[in-house]
Amino acid sequence: MNRIIIFTGKGGVGKSSVAAAHALASSKSSKKTLLVSADAAHNLGDIFQIDIGSRVKKISEYLDVLELDSDAIKTEFFPKVKNTMIDLMGKNGLGITNLNENFSLPGFENLFSLLKIKEIYDTNIYENIFIDCAPTGETLALLKLPELLAWYMEKFFPIGKKIIRILSPISKLAYKVVLPSTQTMDTVEIIHQKLLELQELLKNNEICSVRLVCIPEKMIVEETKRNFMYLNLYKYQVDTVFINRVIADKIENPFMKNWKNIQSKYIQELEEVFINIPIVKIPWYPKEIIGEKALESLCDNIESLPDLFSVKKITQNEEYLTYKDGYILKIELPFIKQEDLKINHHETDLNIKINNMKRCIPLPNILRKSHITDTKIENNILFIYFQVEKKKEDTF
Ligand SMILES: Nc1ncnc2c1ncn2[C@@H]1O[C@H](COP(=O)(O)OP(=O)(O)OP(=O)(O)O)[C@@H](O)[C@H]1O
Ligand SMILES: [Mg+2]
Repeated sequence: MNRIIIFTGKGGVGKSSVAAAHALASSKSSKKTLLVSADAAHNLGDIFQIDIGSRVKKISEYLDVLELDSDAIKTEFFPKVKNTMIDLMGKNGLGITNLNENFSLPGFENLFSLLKIKEIYDTNIYENIFIDCAPTGETLALLKLPELLAWYMEKFFPIGKKIIRILSPISKLAYKVVLPSTQTMDTVEIIHQKLLELQELLKNNEICSVRLVCIPEKMIVEETKRNFMYLNLYKYQVDTVFINRVIADKIENPFMKNWKNIQSKYIQELEEVFINIPIVKIPWYPKEIIGEKALESLCDNIESLPDLFSVKKITQNEEYLTYKDGYILKIELPFIKQEDLKINHHETDLNIKINNMKRCIPLPNILRKSHITDTKIENNILFIYFQVEKKKEDTF
């Protein structure tokens, strides 16, 4: 099965270098490979020392590189989106007066990059697609978008276009509300469908996984742990952790020796917390990683991971178990703290909020009329107990 691997981590830790080394290693094993930069501040051109431009650039027989320009994708592939937004928001005087050619919604642009990657994946040209992402915060915002937007769309536009066609003249006369045109609803439905397919692809544990890149320093270790928890919350499969810039063991210089001790402490912590996930250590090289030769040394390191391109670990993020009064929902959330967690149950939705990250989990039908009796965190797993009304005969 063709693969998508997403690289994420804090700014400057080596995401692009590690992603590029994966791409080079993959192409050298004669697998048709695409390396995509989804970070607006592209630097793949610097790494390969070529001018890439906004189209797919061939680097070698098996290796292509692409630096995505989300603005260009937006106009090229989804020209109707602008009109749709105007139709949806502008008609009823919702105060959107300056919606013009350059309209933008925060984070929305990046979504087009993901949709574009899905389109490329669907062409079946590439065996391996590697995505070099922007630093953590932005990537998390990006990865939660497909699910979030699809959910909003379902909430706000639940009526199908056929009903719109019938209701539209009536609503205009009776309620002075102009419903979106059928054409707009068509576009909304297409986007909605694409978002669902995108989610399905990114969360398919056999196709897509996320690889974390970090450096053994306190702030970065903390952020890596948080990042991992949020990725679990959104059901992404993290399958390898790369600890980059590890100082060599034999070091004489007292300044570097001191740093070596600091690093050792955090490497140990990372090994303890990511006990179930493969870890690859990458040495701190005496030079920047620029050009194919430098990348080749990095390839040698990452190739220490057996079967580099396969999915390394498949976790089941959400699981329902039965107990005498109902069901227990089990969600793996490493490093979660009770005090950061808020849970809200509303009809068929379960809203989980951890600090400022939110996820809405649609519950199965049988839990429609249930209520939460208890929540527990044990061994990094959140257990939510639902008591179900006795007479209910619904099935999942
Ligand atoms: N192991 C290493 N040894 C020496 N230099 C390294 C190593 N890893 C990365 N670098 C250098 O560190 C700098 C940052 O690396 P890179 O661009 O891969 O990080 P990034 O996480 O993609 O950064 P950004 O968040 O800005 O996109 C580059 O100059 C790169 O050559
Ligand atoms: Mg980068």
